[in-house]
Amino acid sequence: PAPASVRAALRGTIGELPVATALKQTIVVPTYNERDNIGTLLERLAAALPHDGTEVVFVDDSTDDTPDVIRAAAADCPIPVTVVHREHATGGLGGAVVEGLRAARGEWIVVMDADLQHPPEVVPALVAAGRRDGADLVVGSRYAGGGSSRAGLDGGYRRLVSGGSTLVTKVIFRNNLIQVSDPMSGLFAIRASSLETEELRPLGYKILLELIVRNRPGRIVEVPYAFQPRHAGESKSSLAEGVRFLKHLAILRFGAKRARMLVFALIGVSGLLPNQGTLWFLHEVANVHYLPAAIIANLVAVGWNFALTDTLLYRDRRQHRRFTGRITRFFVLGHADLLLRLPLLALLVSGLHVGVLIANLITLLVSFVVRFLILDGVIYRA
Ligand code: GDD
Ligand code: MN
Repeated sequence: PAPASVRAALRGTIGELPVATALKQTIVVPTYNERDNIGTLLERLAAALPHDGTEVVFVDDSTDDTPDVIRAAAADCPIPVTVVHREHATGGLGGAVVEGLRAARGEWIVVMDADLQHPPEVVPALVAAGRRDGADLVVGSRYAGGGSSRAGLDGGYRRLVSGGSTLVTKVIFRNNLIQVSDPMSGLFAIRASSLETEELRPLGYKILLELIVRNRPGRIVEVPYAFQPRHAGESKSSLAEGVRFLKHLAILRFGAKRARMLVFALIGVSGLLPNQGTLWFLHEVANVHYLPAAIIANLVAVGWNFALTDTLLYRDRRQHRRFTGRITRFFVLGHADLLLRLPLLALLVSGLHVGVLIANLITLLVSFVVRFLILDGVIYRA
């Protein structure tokens, strides 16, 4: 196939041909149990937008009757409305948005939430700014001059989390985000010809960040808006979503495999705590000889590492192997480790006269890389 840039250019050309059926804009709305927001959302969209040349695409992962509510409301809506109901809700909110981007036929695609935290009245300004300024991406921003976030972020806690994650993200991706004051925004418009959906690996809420980092849109401009309180229902974000966001950041920054290795290292470091703690208890408190105590401590640490690795790091690859298969392999690996490290230690200390502590550290690092590769490529092979 032609390179991405060539395909994008071709699509751009076709998109700009004055074809009668060409749609000017598609509004993509991800929904998860939003039944009581649909009616108002569609009414306000229909009041704000021209009915010709516009379509609305809902991408739904609901467990309630939201799709039925959408279909019923669509019958009364002057703008054509379609619903994509996903059977496999991979990628969460971001996955749903990418599905919507693929289904969209408009020259511009606007992504917005269903809960009216994003005022539908801002949508025309987003697309107009993109056309006027020749931009590929228009970010609806709560932090640009004239925008505000206060009304929509209920409570100091949410404000703190939102402000903190925005700051961290801006520091990590400073090169991509120079012109973007609100990289966490869920409201934005993108020129369809600049999209490369096959490049995207959405994971959770921050689909805008994913788009900016992986698709590298040309010109980016912002349109300020006032973030509103939710109309009905409640937010779907959670602590698990926060963890998913950190994972997303690490993958975007380092790539998937190096991000896993980083988490594996953090888990390994955290294992020092149960290891030393057990050794201290057995040796100092219970007066067990230090050698058996060290072996038991190692066992406890390997158990700790397994629990964290299996639940945090490879949660999505667990289905490939039964629990007993995973845990036995993990324990064998965690102890076979000594077979590698002890001879290496002897070689370094006796053969090469490296200091014991430095040598031990080297064997730990070598074992760390070897164990990670076996874990990643064999035990939890995707
Ligand atoms: N299809 C689908 N699948 N939609 C989802 C999912 C999902 O797994 N999770 C959430 N949604 C939909 C909701 O139904 C809603 O329309 C929209 O995504 C936003 O969800 P909320 O639960 O209202 O999110 P929020 O208000 O906490 O977060 C919003 O504001 C943040 C900035 O503070 C979102 O726009 C975030 O992207 C944004 O970062
Ligand atoms: Mn919301």
